[in-house]
Amino acid sequence: MPPKRPLLEISGIHKAIQITDDNSRTLIDPVSGVAFHSASGALAETRHVYLNNSGVKERLAQGASTAVLEVGLGTGLGMLLTVDEAVSGNAKLEYHALEQDLLPVAVLRELELQSGLKSSAVCESYLDWYENVCFTPTQRTYCWKYSDQVTVTIHHIDAREFQGLKGASFDAVYFDPFAPSVNQELWTDEFLGRMRDLLRDGGQLVTYCVNRRVKDALTACGFEINCIPGPAGGKREVMRATR
Ligand SMILES: C[S@@+](CC[C@H](N)C(=O)[O-])C[C@H]1O[C@@H](n2cnc3c(N)ncnc32)[C@H](O)[C@@H]1O
Repeated sequence: MPPKRPLLEISGIHKAIQITDDNSRTLIDPVSGVAFHSASGALAETRHVYLNNSGVKERLAQGASTAVLEVGLGTGLGMLLTVDEAVSGNAKLEYHALEQDLLPVAVLRELELQSGLKSSAVCESYLDWYENVCFTPTQRTYCWKYSDQVTVTIHHIDAREFQGLKGASFDAVYFDPFAPSVNQELWTDEFLGRMRDLLRDGGQLVTYCVNRRVKDALTACGFEINCIPGPAGGKREVMRATR
């Protein structure tokens, strides 16, 4: 029997907060069991699968200018950890995140997202900005400029509508929709092929999913795939796919 993780109720959405095994928090739909992160550690999973395996953490630590595309902003954990690394490495970061269902700020505040950051000012600045943005059904992009070096653009769209950036390509794609059984529309050969086209040569698509169908789709659209060990206590293997 897997260990039972504590759940905290939150009002306003049909989700609960789950305390994961490294004490960081994620969101879970208590009826379907669909969660935003691994129960074995939201923070550990995000650091390992996205920041470390993509090479983004290393680039930022070296002060290298970096462009990241995230499919599924969710709680903002992956984005905040990346901004935090850019700030500590004094590196330029251009971060684009695709998300169709933006969460209420009150929910984000319950997630204690600052607890995994070196600088809690990053999280405070983001939540203050988010609280004051007027999200409207007609506006599709929102830009949070943390500093002259660090900008985050949230595209409030179905990820399939994203057309890329004029003349620019990404160093990494954090591919983090829900599992293929939930978000079938994003795990197709066609959509993964579009992710490949958005990467520079040598850029990495990283994700937690290594099932046969996903491996075949990534290979078919021209990625070189590597299944690498997952985070301690979590999935046995995770994916790094290189353009
Ligand atoms: C696993 S969660 C992402 C977790 C996130 N990376 C984080 O750090 O919290 C998946 C996210 O993908 C979003 N999503 C699912 N289907 C989508 C679609 N077609 N277009 C845009 N976002 C989508 C969901 O709303 C959800 O926020």
